[in-house]
Amino acid sequence: MFEAIDTLGDVVARFPVAGTIFKDHKIDYCCHGQRTLEEAASEQGLSTDSLLSTLNTAYDKAIEEGHKEHDWYTESYSTMIEYILTNHHAYLQKTMPVLGELTAKILRVHGEHHGEELRQVHRLFNTFKMDMEAHLIKEEESVFPQIVAFEKTGDRDALVEALKKIAELESEHEAAGDLLRQINLVTANYAVPEDGCATYLYTYEKLEQVEEDTFRHVHLENNILFPRLREQL
Ligand SMILES: [Fe+2]
Ligand SMILES: [Fe+2]
Repeated sequence: MFEAIDTLGDVVARFPVAGTIFKDHKIDYCCHGQRTLEEAASEQGLSTDSLLSTLNTAYDKAIEEGHKEHDWYTESYSTMIEYILTNHHAYLQKTMPVLGELTAKILRVHGEHHGEELRQVHRLFNTFKMDMEAHLIKEEESVFPQIVAFEKTGDRDALVEALKKIAELESEHEAAGDLLRQINLVTANYAVPEDGCATYLYTYEKLEQVEEDTFRHVHLENNILFPRLREQL
């Protein structure tokens, strides 16, 4: 059961469904996962008791249904990295080019009536895409191989090199999270106007999925993988 003093990152690490509950309440658990449930609830003007009761009810239900989750605190680094690559990096690599085209397409078709919103969506998403492409390369080509090398050989130099770049990765996560929050804001939580076509709807659905997936992705890196590595020093 969760308590008011538990941190957001720890709650989602133990119970990933909590990520969806936090998202519904606009609570950022990935870049600011070190805050307690109580702090996050009061920042959002929510009652801590009602947030706790929502979380604990969902948790009881998941236990009853026999859900088993990864314990990322004890899983090997290479398993965790493999999971991040096959789920989150592959997802972004597949989805970002499609959304790059879709945000341009809806701007072209609906720009006359919804130009201000769609120009911002197009610009914000393409900035996110460009930044994330470089970020994924940095993780895949440099930081993740160093972490795996450290795990295999115990090479402290590889650990030190990886840790040096982790602060950069964290600030890139913060910037990416900000861009996604701005997209959420300018679209009023992905609300499609009445005259929006099927492509408009599809684009906004995909953008919302990118937000949710990226928060889960960043959570695994910021709240679990990186802190575990720092403890190794
Ligand atoms: Fe990543
Ligand atoms: Fe990352």
